[in-house]
Amino acid sequence: MRQMHLGLFLLGTGSHVAGWRMPGAVTSFQDFHAIQQMAATAERGCFDLIFMGDNLYADPGAHPSYTLRLEPLTMLAALAMTTKHIGLGATVATTYSDPWSVARAFASLDHISGGRAAWNAVTGSSAQAAPNFGRTHPNHAERYAIAAEFVDVVRGLWDGWEDDALVADRASGLYLDPAKLHPLNHEGVHFSVKGPLNIGRAPQGRPVILQAGGSEAGLDLAARTADVVFAVVQDFEEARGQYRALKSRLPAYGRRPADVAVLPGVMPIVGRTEREALDKLAQLQGFISPGNALQLLQDRLGIDLSGQDMDAPLGDLPLHDGGHGFARTLLNKARRDNLTLRDVYNLLGAARGHWVLCGAAEKVADTLQQWFEGGAADGFNVMPSHFPGGMDDFVNLVVPILQERGLFRTHYEGRTLRDLLGLDRPERLGGRKPA
Ligand SMILES: Cc1cc2nc3c(=O)[nH]c(=O)nc-3n(C[C@H](O)[C@H](O)[C@H](O)COP(=O)(O)O)c2cc1C
Repeated sequence: MRQMHLGLFLLGTGSHVAGWRMPGAVTSFQDFHAIQQMAATAERGCFDLIFMGDNLYADPGAHPSYTLRLEPLTMLAALAMTTKHIGLGATVATTYSDPWSVARAFASLDHISGGRAAWNAVTGSSAQAAPNFGRTHPNHAERYAIAAEFVDVVRGLWDGWEDDALVADRASGLYLDPAKLHPLNHEGVHFSVKGPLNIGRAPQGRPVILQAGGSEAGLDLAARTADVVFAVVQDFEEARGQYRALKSRLPAYGRRPADVAVLPGVMPIVGRTEREALDKLAQLQGFISPGNALQLLQDRLGIDLSGQDMDAPLGDLPLHDGGHGFARTLLNKARRDNLTLRDVYNLLGAARGHWVLCGAAEKVADTLQQWFEGGAADGFNVMPSHFPGGMDDFVNLVVPILQERGLFRTHYEGRTLRDLLGLDRPERLGGRKPA
């Protein structure tokens, strides 16, 4: 029986923009002890993956509670020591790093964790990172052109050493077998990388690649290179449309539907009863301040909203040069439901543009099952509103129902994240660039 995959979107202060204001909620994303507890809860719930996003700037205006955070790879290396089974994914943006370092870092994490590393290869949608690197922010098309070459180089570097290159034969004195070494010798438009890496082939062969872009270029890159895709959706029809759009692109790259797991983001607000769940949501929404939510909305939509009437319908707005995926999802929702700016920022504040699913545990499980069986998802990227409460509710109340229905694992099997996701260990490309 086909089973769901569940990821935890690890944002220590909660994915709800004001989740940290809930009584008892974790208020710091620098508190490793708290983060360790979050990972332990995800593992208790048999989740496939913990995922940590990243930004390369501090923005206390739009994102006060997301501003101070641990560097993701450092944090995941520490979590590799406190967890046993769960996958460990992090964002490193292709616009502000170099392929050799990224390939090396994720290969290291894969070795350290025994095959549980995953790289979220995003372009980095915000121009705010640019001044921290003495650069100008490339436009959308350019960012994706860089990303496409970047990912190819990283995959090529991961294949630079054959699995049995380290011989360490005491009798002959042969340590490394030179025949098993394949420098990449990449000369491209954006990168020139000789290779190989100074780390051997990773336990997973190649660490898992995650992607989250919703534009045409983003979907193409995902279809060609990703193992897991995070989708931004607001309702079932939209989710099914995005699911199909991604899966239908796979054959062109010689890939099968089962080669990529599509996980829409969802913020579950769960109660033992419908009333309890609604009360929790109302409490969270009561913490949203217009200032923060509007800033965040401007960020997502990429337009100045300062002069706009808060209670007029949002109407038609153009797509901007930042992230197309979020803007399109929000604008579609606003048009469909005739939402005002105030409605949209409330919606956005709730889950920063992602889908909110509020209800009694049974109803939440029913909806996830409908999406999963109805061709809209291979699983979900769970975005708790706050920690530990929002995550505990999901793991204690919803996961057991999914398990009882045979929709989700009751224990871990396999060794690597690829095993959990049902993905094959990739063959080496023989030092060639991926097609
Ligand atoms: C679940 C999820 C996680 C994301 N994490 C990051 C992140 O950590 N850093 C980042 O710059 N963008 C992140 N993004 C933003 C997307 O990658 C963004 O949509 C993309 O950079 C712009 O591409 P698009 O125009 O193809 O949508 C994330 C998006 C989603 C849905």
